[in-house]
Amino acid sequence: MDPQTYRLLHIVGLFAVFLGLGGSLALADASKSGGRAIALALHGLGLIVVLVAGFGLQAKLLDGFPMWLITKIALWLVIGALPFLVRKRYVPAMIGWIVALAAGAMAAWLVLERPF
Ligand code: HEM
Repeated sequence: MDPQTYRLLHIVGLFAVFLGLGGSLALADASKSGGRAIALALHGLGLIVVLVAGFGLQAKLLDGFPMWLITKIALWLVIGALPFLVRKRYVPAMIGWIVALAAGAMAAWLVLERPF
């Protein structure tokens, strides 16, 4: 696949991740039916698409795994774990919202600036 297709998939995957994340944080205390199930499915599916397209981009555009990319993968893990961490109350809901936005912003900043 060409890099533009991976780029598009990466971004569309991110839309799904953050849509699903918003829903799953808002419904963290709800039963796992209806809206919450859809939110969790979107979040999980989006995470897979982002990861696959991310590795596709890495293979097409990069030489190895620079530190900014490894950091992005760590942020992907944080974003992936947030619904569980908030649901189980390991992380307060308000912190979950803030961390979600900060992690997304940092991942985007890392690829734009490539500081390390
Ligand atoms: C944590 C969530 C993530 C966010 C918010 C994010 C965001 C972005 C954004 C905004 C871009 C720029 C798209 C463009 O090329 O115009 C990008 C590119 C890229 N992302 Fe991600 N990403 C995330 C996760 C990942 C993961 C997990 C990987 C690797 C497995 C990855 C690998 C890449 C690569 C290799 C590029 C292209 C770099 C280049 O153009 O040379 N990303 N990402």
